[in-house]
Amino acid sequence: MIPDEFVEEVKYKNPIADVVSAYVQLRRRGRTSVGLCPFHSEKSPSFTVYEDSNSYYCFGCGAGGDVIGFIRQIENLSYIEALKLLAARAGMALPEDAGDDEGAKKRSRILEANRVAARFFYEQLLTPAGREAQAYLQQRGLSAKTIKQFGIGFAPDSWDMLRNHLKEKGYSYELMEEASLLTKGKNGSFYDKFRGRVMFPIIDLRGSVIGFGGRILKGDGAKYMNSGDTPVFKKSRHLFALNLAKNSKEKRLILCEGYMDVISLHQAGFGTAVATLGTALTAEQARLISQYAHEVVVCYDSDEAGQKAAKRASSIFSQLEIKVKILTIPGAKDPDEFIKKYGDVRFKLLLDGAQNATEYELGRILEKYDLSAADGRVGALKEAVKALAEIPSRVERDVYASKLAGELDASKDAILLAMEDERKRAYRAKQKREQQDYSVVGFDRRDTVNPQRSQNITAALAEEGIIALLLRNPDYIDLVEQQLTPEHFITDFNRQVYTLIRERLMNRMIVDIGVLSAELTPEQTGKVQRMLIESEALSQGKGQLLDYIKVLGDAENKVDEGEIGQMQADDLQRLFDDIRKKQGKR
Ligand code: UTP
Ligand code: MN
Repeated sequence: MIPDEFVEEVKYKNPIADVVSAYVQLRRRGRTSVGLCPFHSEKSPSFTVYEDSNSYYCFGCGAGGDVIGFIRQIENLSYIEALKLLAARAGMALPEDAGDDEGAKKRSRILEANRVAARFFYEQLLTPAGREAQAYLQQRGLSAKTIKQFGIGFAPDSWDMLRNHLKEKGYSYELMEEASLLTKGKNGSFYDKFRGRVMFPIIDLRGSVIGFGGRILKGDGAKYMNSGDTPVFKKSRHLFALNLAKNSKEKRLILCEGYMDVISLHQAGFGTAVATLGTALTAEQARLISQYAHEVVVCYDSDEAGQKAAKRASSIFSQLEIKVKILTIPGAKDPDEFIKKYGDVRFKLLLDGAQNATEYELGRILEKYDLSAADGRVGALKEAVKALAEIPSRVERDVYASKLAGELDASKDAILLAMEDERKRAYRAKQKREQQDYSVVGFDRRDTVNPQRSQNITAALAEEGIIALLLRNPDYIDLVEQQLTPEHFITDFNRQVYTLIRERLMNRMIVDIGVLSAELTPEQTGKVQRMLIESEALSQGKGQLLDYIKVLGDAENKVDEGEIGQMQADDLQRLFDDIRKKQGKR
């Protein structure tokens, strides 16, 4: 057991604000500090650090605790591991008899094995067997310094060299398999997972080797192979080279597709390049990036797939407090090739000129058409209007309408009108789709969260619009409050959500998805999340809000007159009678 005094000293020597600020950008607010919660996604800070009590609490997701709890939660460690980390941070040695738990032992053993493996791969580069790999890296333009900086190595084309090497050092096959270094064959024997590959160690923010990416040198097989998920590695949670990028003073991260892009960029002086690990960008990774940067430039391959992925990535970032730009790379298939062909100065120019998502999309549309011909311009105009109509902000739409008018030699007013038509059309189409989605039986069996939704679809859409608008613009509460009471809400679930939001906002408290999730089930929370997502494309203005309010006012009148509500209740009654009759006959 660890003595209490020791724990107290660790806490004393690790003031919570110091520890937290390594992960969260804190802003002082009197005796407390606030920042964006690292445990859930949010746009306004509800993560609060109390220096007096050496504790933290997130009003968004309800996470809270002391400094040890914080480290446990954020580093995904056991109590003992967290204590160790903090003790080390304060230059204290842990008492001898500190008990370790199994999971922690396993993880540190895996990390050790990974480190030994990384060293083994690196050393292989210098042996005769690694000569070819060495030549390959040279041919790809990597300097010895870069190879060392990234710890690039070579996994020899052998079934058991790494296995035997690690065995000699005392690691079991089972552990190596758990570390994703070995594969278990059908007959139960173990063999090296990475063979004949150039190896890129993946290093986490604390400097531990958590996994590998391996590029094939020759022959068939997947071009890249990555470690599978292990107790210390989750592809969706880590980024390649963030351990290096995080130290940069530059707060603009460059997000690439591949290992080689990142390495080339670093070598050329762009130390903030990072990449996902063979998968599409996840929300978790995006949040991680937003913690280290004010701006991210998505710099994917210039092929169709890369450009699609870039758009998807930029929409993930749009949920977060970070500026996003998309880079198109002219004349090269990816950043690596571009740097080699045109050099770092031109790449810097590209970076500085990178466009925001809308400019980018517009550019892509315009370049498809022959703008010197009238029908080319008409085609471009139609497609551009369709794309621009999706922009939620009226001001922004106006800006792009001007721009488009200039480029296509068309009237700005006509463009704006066309955009509004398109928005209305899209909204109606969506409503229709929703209506068709729901059965005529009066209630929707699939919608367990809000079963009344389908029979009151218009009202429900308005309710959801109001909820979404309030979550985005809390200051609208006064306007809504003046005109509606919770009783105006037709569907019970939406009324419940509105009541929750209303109560908090009237008390000037923070409200976001995190807060709501404390009061709702995960399914219900998901439903609210969906309202937010679906309202994204619609106007966020007061005009829109007033429209929704009007719908609810009208809908309520109708129910009062007993038309819709009653009719459906009758229909339902008849249906139930029918069912009962049939059952009675049996
Ligand atoms: P690319 O094929 O674009 O990689 O895949 P690259 O960096 O341009 O490759 P070379 O070495 O220069 O030819 C981009 C990323 O997608 C993942 C890897 O993470 C790679 O870096 N990938 C690709 C895989 O996981 N498996 C594959 O088979 C291919
Ligand atoms: Mn590539």
